[in-house]
Amino acid sequence: MFDRSIKIAPSILSADFADFGREIQAIETQGCDWVHVDVMDGHFVPNLTFGPPLVKAIRKHVTTFMDVHLMIAPVDPFIEAFAEAGADLISAHVEAGPHIHRTLQAIRAQGVKSGVVLNPGTPAEAIADVLDMVDLVLVMTVNPGFGGQKFIQSGVEKTRKIRQMIGDRPIHIQIDGGITPETAPLVVEAGADCLVAGSAVFKGGSVENPSVYGENIRAIRSAAEAARQAA
Ligand code: DX5
Ligand code: ZN
Repeated sequence: MFDRSIKIAPSILSADFADFGREIQAIETQGCDWVHVDVMDGHFVPNLTFGPPLVKAIRKHVTTFMDVHLMIAPVDPFIEAFAEAGADLISAHVEAGPHIHRTLQAIRAQGVKSGVVLNPGTPAEAIADVLDMVDLVLVMTVNPGFGGQKFIQSGVEKTRKIRQMIGDRPIHIQIDGGITPETAPLVVEAGADCLVAGSAVFKGGSVENPSVYGENIRAIRSAAEAARQAA
């Protein structure tokens, strides 16, 4: 059965980069559902993070589900490497090139789950013809590149539209950018089930003081679940 329950996916972009192993262990022990890995190329987005060897190194520490968000262009030459690095799901931006259909085929051909991502400036309709090729739609609620930015409200109505477009299909709706206990209910009420959060999970905590991560995760989860029940 398809699992549309609320999932919290901390973005390790806000973790201590010198201590990924212990950071991942800490967020998993503290109750996260997925681990969200933000790959940036300094070209598609104005920031650089990590490539396949680092993703492979951190995979050993992930016991839940590793979701790799590719903010790179081109995408296709790197799909195999990220699949081999151990991604459970690879998501690619519809804006990253002219051939999102081919990209999604290539992701599934690697035997991993596929996701398609929309920037805040891209309308929901842009993914209408690829919905049967994805396991997840990621709606960006910030312009990708950095953690800690302000939530862009137009993502809420876009999420509602995508939820309708999906209908009964087994496709997750993930939201990324500016998610907090205040913004999570807005997108869950509109149909999201998977919430990425970087700064809102890692703020105030550390591997020495991981219970703060747990409090932060529970605060987002309980706000989201309350909105789900009310919907
Ligand atoms: C933004 C990344 C996000 C980011 C979220 O480009 O895709 O995953 O880390 O960070 P917060 O939750 O701080 O907005
Ligand atoms: Zn992300």
